[in-house]
Amino acid sequence: MKVKISCVYIIAGVDSKVLSVISRLNMQSNRERSGRVKVAPDQEMLAITADTGIFFSVLLKAIKARRILEVGTSAGFSTLWFADAMGKNHSTRIITIEMNPQKVERALKNFKEAGIDKIIEIKQGIALDLLHKLKGKFDFVFLDADKENIIRYFDIVLPMVRIGGIIAADNMLYPDHFRPAMRKYTRHVHTKPNIQSVTVPIGMGEEITIKLRN
Ligand SMILES: C[S@@+](CC[C@H](N)C(=O)[O-])C[C@H]1O[C@@H](n2cnc3c(N)ncnc32)[C@H](O)[C@@H]1O
Repeated sequence: MKVKISCVYIIAGVDSKVLSVISRLNMQSNRERSGRVKVAPDQEMLAITADTGIFFSVLLKAIKARRILEVGTSAGFSTLWFADAMGKNHSTRIITIEMNPQKVERALKNFKEAGIDKIIEIKQGIALDLLHKLKGKFDFVFLDADKENIIRYFDIVLPMVRIGGIIAADNMLYPDHFRPAMRKYTRHVHTKPNIQSVTVPIGMGEEITIKLRN
């Protein structure tokens, strides 16, 4: 069985409850992006694209990710992809950070509806404050909040990523107004001797950085 999500075919294997929430959110995200619906700026989804979701799903399965950190939850679209890729196993966990209380509420509702809320911990607050308090190693970190602090986020999370783990950053190529900040980010990432990094032109552009050694 194949389910069509906005020109992208997802091969069955995605949990049906998760898929139903992903489909609904994907439609909403496309409507917002095309300007067909108007929402208050602080309530926009600003989500990854569906093909990016599939790309991350493949990546997470390949590295056998069990512990994920996300900076920037919004409505939880990307988090749903991560949760589905890892499976609802007692050893899997996602910590996701969001400062907007209405978005936290909305994401939680989506996670409950998808039946994945047990493996997700939403931390409400300012990312810089919360990141310093985190403990333990992560297999995958997704940086998708404000771009002003993205270099700081990278420097804080790099020691928290296991060898062979990945840091991904969204919006490397689009929208255009993020380009200067993202160019600085790429330059900064490439100063680190213990990583390998590439910009993948999928969705809004993803920087995929693997940690090779401590
Ligand atoms: C691009 S959206 C995240 C989209 C989500 N990752 C997805 O693909 O579905 C960015 C989110 O980060 C949140 N955010 C921005 N700056 C933040 C900060 N300093 N601390 C915590 N959250 C922040 C915003 O409220 C917004 O919901």
